[in-house]
Amino acid sequence: MVESNLNTPVVQNGSNLDATKGESMTLIFSPGKDSVGTLAKALKLFKEHNVNLLHIESRSSDRMSNQYEFFVECAPGGDIEKVIEILKNTMTYCSVVSRNGIHIGEEEDKFIPWFPLRIRDLDKYANQVMSYGAELNADHPGFTDPVYRARRKYLTESAITYRHGEKLPHVNYTEEEVKTWGTVFRELTKLYPTHACKEFNHVFPLLIENCGYGENNIPQLEDISNFLKDSTGFTLRPVCGLLSSRDFLAGLAFRVFHSTQYIRHHSKPLYTPEPDICHELLGHVPLFANPAFAQFSQEIGLASLGAPEDYIKKLATCYWFTVEFGLCRQDGELKAYGAGLLSSIGELEYSLSGKPALKEFDPEVTGNEEYPITEYQPTYFVAESFDDIKEKLIKFAKTIPKKFGVRYNPYTQSVQVLDSKMQLQELANNISSDLQILRYSMNKMD
Ligand SMILES: [Fe+2]
Repeated sequence: MVESNLNTPVVQNGSNLDATKGESMTLIFSPGKDSVGTLAKALKLFKEHNVNLLHIESRSSDRMSNQYEFFVECAPGGDIEKVIEILKNTMTYCSVVSRNGIHIGEEEDKFIPWFPLRIRDLDKYANQVMSYGAELNADHPGFTDPVYRARRKYLTESAITYRHGEKLPHVNYTEEEVKTWGTVFRELTKLYPTHACKEFNHVFPLLIENCGYGENNIPQLEDISNFLKDSTGFTLRPVCGLLSSRDFLAGLAFRVFHSTQYIRHHSKPLYTPEPDICHELLGHVPLFANPAFAQFSQEIGLASLGAPEDYIKKLATCYWFTVEFGLCRQDGELKAYGAGLLSSIGELEYSLSGKPALKEFDPEVTGNEEYPITEYQPTYFVAESFDDIKEKLIKFAKTIPKKFGVRYNPYTQSVQVLDSKMQLQELANNISSDLQILRYSMNKMD
C-alpha cells in the first residue's frame, strides 16, 4: 500500500533507491587528498556498471578544506546502486544529492520522487545544494576581494550546521555591510509607496516597528521568523547555497522559506547577481506576513510534493513569475508584488514603465514560459489578486499526475498523504467540525 511506503522516511544509503526507472540521480563524491587519477577511475566505474552520465563538474569542497569534489548527474539505467556502494567504500565522501524516491510497483508511473513528510525532514537536504553561497563566479563584484570571500564562507558555514528547531544564526553585520544595506533600503523605500502592492505597503511599517527594519540596521532572521510565525505561520531557515527547485518548493509546503544571510558586495550596492539578504528581507519577507499570499505560496509547495520532474519545472516557472516577478492590478493600476522586483530599483521601475509585455497569470501558460535569469524580464504576468492566483494554481495542481492527495497538518507540522479511506474519513470529520464552528458563528452574527 502506498501509505506505508510514503510514511517511511527514505534513507539515502541507496538501499531503497532505484534509478533503473524514472528520473536521473545526482551524486557528489570526493576522493580526498590523494586523488591523482581518481576521476578516470570513477568514470571507468560508471562505464563498467552501464551508468551514463548527463553532467559532470568538479568544484572545491566546502565540507573538507583544500579538497575538491565531483558533482555528477547520472541518467536512469544501469547498476547505480553498485556504483554508489563502491564509491562509499573507496571515496572520502559520497552522497546522493537528489533522492530518487520510491517505487510502489513495477510500472513507470508508480515511481514517486522522495519528499519531506515532517518539517524536520528539511534537515535532510539542507546541505545538498546545487552551488554553495561561498563560491563566486569570476564576474561577481566580490570575486577578487579576499575579505568578502572569507565573510561569505563564514556565513555559509553557519547555515550548513543549522538544524530545525535551533535558534536562527545571529549575524553581527559589519559597518560596511550595514552601509550597503542602508543604500539599498533608502533607495527602495522611496519607490515602495508608488510601486509596491498595497499588501506589501501594509506590512512594511510593521517590520520597521517589530523586526528592526531600518536604514541603519540589518534585521536578524530570528526576529523576522518569529514575526512571520505569529502572522501566518511562515518561518525562515538559513540556506548555504542554491537548492534544487524540488527541494526549495518543498520547503514552501511547510511554510518555510530558505533565506541567505550574506549581503552583496559593497562596491555595487544596487546590483547583485544572486539572492542576498537585501533580496530576501526587502523583497520576500513582507508578503509572507500576508495570509492570502502565504497560502498561495504554500499551495505551490504542496503541489510540488511527489510531482514528476516536468511539473516541478512548470511549478518553479509559476513561482518565478509570481513570487519572484509578479505584478498585480489594484484600483486600475499595475503594482509589483514579486520579490525580484521589490528588491531591485532598476527592474521595479522598468516593470511598471509600460515597456515590457504583460500577460494574465494562467499556470497552464505561465508554467511553460521561457525566461532570462541575468537580465530584466521581457514579459511579466499580471494577477487579479492573491486569492485569484491561488485558485488558479489549485486548479492546475489537479492536473499533475499523482496517485495521492496531500494535506498539511499545522498541529504536527507534517504532510499527510491522503491515499486511504481512513484518512479521507478523518479529513471529512475535521471539515465537518469546522463547518459546525462556521454555522454556529454565522448564527451568532445573524
Ligand atoms: Fe527570491
